[in-house]
Amino acid sequence: MFRIAVMVSGGGTNLQAIIDAISSGKITDTEIGVVISNNADAYALTRAKNAGIPAVCVSRKEIPDRAAYNQMLIKAVDDANVDLVVLAGFLVVIPEEMIRKYRNRIINIHPSLIPSFCGTGYYGLKVHEGALARGVKVSGATVHFVDEGTDTGPIILQKAVEVKDDDTPEVLQRRIMEEAEWVLLPQAIDLIAHQKVEVVDGKVKRI
Ligand code: GAR
Repeated sequence: MFRIAVMVSGGGTNLQAIIDAISSGKITDTEIGVVISNNADAYALTRAKNAGIPAVCVSRKEIPDRAAYNQMLIKAVDDANVDLVVLAGFLVVIPEEMIRKYRNRIINIHPSLIPSFCGTGYYGLKVHEGALARGVKVSGATVHFVDEGTDTGPIILQKAVEVKDDDTPEVLQRRIMEEAEWVLLPQAIDLIAHQKVEVVDGKVKRI
């Protein structure tokens, strides 16, 4: 069985999409070993509990020392003994030590078509505010491996979503979740679980 850890900070709709995809057989031969949150109030923790999945909170608030926090985060991931770490709306920067240790074994979902509207400062609703402020007609979502940069790692899957004239950031966010994120993230996990992708020269190739 391929084991994944899912790291979350908020609502956990992407976590729910993974749980549902495992239940419905869209993701096969895979189990969620643990859900890790940086935020004790994250609704994602309730989703994990409802699905009977072990969940831990490594609270950024309670551990202000960044080096100590990083070590606790890495320990939480190590203890879970997983094949893949999935960042599903996890809004804490991943320690470099963990990126090196889990090279090409951490993926992230980002709610835009990278390299647009990504990098430092672009997370959650801010991504969609940026897209609407620029007036783009198409946005979308990207799943990528995590490297030392912010949203710079090898791209696994992308899906475009139409931007409508009267969109608010919230409306656009919801459409991108429904049409792209909740589809792409389970797809990417299933591809990796079945060894259908590899990273060659910093790019993802389908096998
Ligand atoms: C999602 O839209 C995800 O793409 C985004 O946060 C949201 C989390 O929602 N992630 C980022 O912006 C990362 N830079 P969720 O908790 O309902 O899955």
